[in-house]
Amino acid sequence: MCPLRVPLLAALISLALCQYYDYDYQPASILGPSGPNCNQDCDCPISFPSAMYCDSRKLKAVPVVPSGIKYLYLQNNQIDAIKAGVFDNVTDTLRWLILDNNQITNGKIEKGTIDKLTALEKLHVSFNNLTEPVIPPSKSLDELKIMHNMLSKFPGGLLSDKENLTSINLQFNQLTSDAIAGAFTGPKKLFSLDVSHNKLKKLPAGVPSTLVILYADYNDIAGVAAGYLGKLPRLQYLRLSHNKLEDSGIPAGVFNATSLVELDLSFNKLQSIPEINEKLEHLYLQANEINKFDLSSFCKYVTPTDFSHLKHLRLDGNNVTYNSMPPDYVTCLREASDIIFE
Ligand SMILES: *[C@@H]1O[C@H](CO)[C@@H](O)[C@H](O)[C@H]1NC(C)=O
Ligand SMILES: *[C@@H]1O[C@H](CO)[C@@H](O)[C@H](O)[C@H]1NC(C)=O
Ligand SMILES: *[C@@H]1O[C@H](CO)[C@@H](O)[C@H](O)[C@H]1NC(C)=O
Ligand SMILES: *[C@@H]1O[C@H](CO)[C@@H](O)[C@H](O)[C@H]1NC(C)=O
Ligand SMILES: *[C@@H]1O[C@H](CO)[C@@H](O)[C@H](O)[C@H]1NC(C)=O
Repeated sequence: MCPLRVPLLAALISLALCQYYDYDYQPASILGPSGPNCNQDCDCPISFPSAMYCDSRKLKAVPVVPSGIKYLYLQNNQIDAIKAGVFDNVTDTLRWLILDNNQITNGKIEKGTIDKLTALEKLHVSFNNLTEPVIPPSKSLDELKIMHNMLSKFPGGLLSDKENLTSINLQFNQLTSDAIAGAFTGPKKLFSLDVSHNKLKKLPAGVPSTLVILYADYNDIAGVAAGYLGKLPRLQYLRLSHNKLEDSGIPAGVFNATSLVELDLSFNKLQSIPEINEKLEHLYLQANEINKFDLSSFCKYVTPTDFSHLKHLRLDGNNVTYNSMPPDYVTCLREASDIIFE
């Protein structure tokens, strides 16, 4: 689930984003005996009485949640329905709701359930059967994970009051560019957005200017609009591998943004190396159709202070070799420790 191909800082950030696989799935048994205020189908450790563990026990529906519970673990069951009333005693206290790996469909989420949760911070509903997003009214939502569902729409405005939302994970759905128009406007602290493995034809529009990570691998994106990155002054990690990028869809200088550290354009149809900023450190261009090595893509001028800070460059699976580089590449690419041609 977590990306394996992640250099340096990106690796640390990915680990941070993936860490719930550690803490969410902590088995209840190692936490000691169950407290008294617990649903009989679940465990509420005495040492951590605000958590209720109901994971991996073949439940068919969400059990009634007693008051006092803030962290609710329901992953790995056979839940297909959420009945009205189950959250009535925790509507303003439940903070984490983990529902990954069940069979929840939108039609069986009754009114008076998730739509009443006003304090929720984390909502994880990955590996379910949702066709549209389920968003609680809570203004405190900070993490939303709806990966591996069947989302085909994400109406605009749903996230407009989520002032603390930092991370949205929607990979492996069926979202089109039209379906997400306006979906991500609003969250003023959004840090990370992952829309990989969908059906997008372009990068999402109207994303908050706070974004640092944007992953859109495995879509049908053929180009990037001029000025797109200019609206994202903090963006450091941009991944667009396995799309349909062609030279004609890449306006001059569109990736020349000073904030970018890592740019992944691998597995596309590019024939030339796009202009990049001298601050970029990792550039992935493997498996394209690149047939020339133009040093001006990296350095317009080379002076003692103007040179590319690129460290890693992958060009394998293209029509260029080491001999395609002009001899003065060493001056421009003086920091490159790793240039891979095959
Ligand atoms: C819900 O709260 C009511 C009122 O405080 C209480 O009587 C009832 O037992 C609670 N139910 C659960 C399941 O905690
Ligand atoms: C959910 O989706 C899975 C995989 O597509 C399917 O096998 C299952 O029958 C679906 N369940 C429901 C309740 O729709
Ligand atoms: C957002 O986060 C800040 C800082 O953690 C907190 O003080 C504030 O109450 C949060 N806002 C909401 C609506 O939860
Ligand atoms: C990137 O943009 C800067 C500032 O506009 C410019 O000086 C530089 O030449 C550009 N780099 C490339 C490789 O085009
Ligand atoms: C690859 O490059 C060589 C030498 O520049 C050229 O002769 C050949 O036609 C190119 N092949 C493709 C598929 O572009």
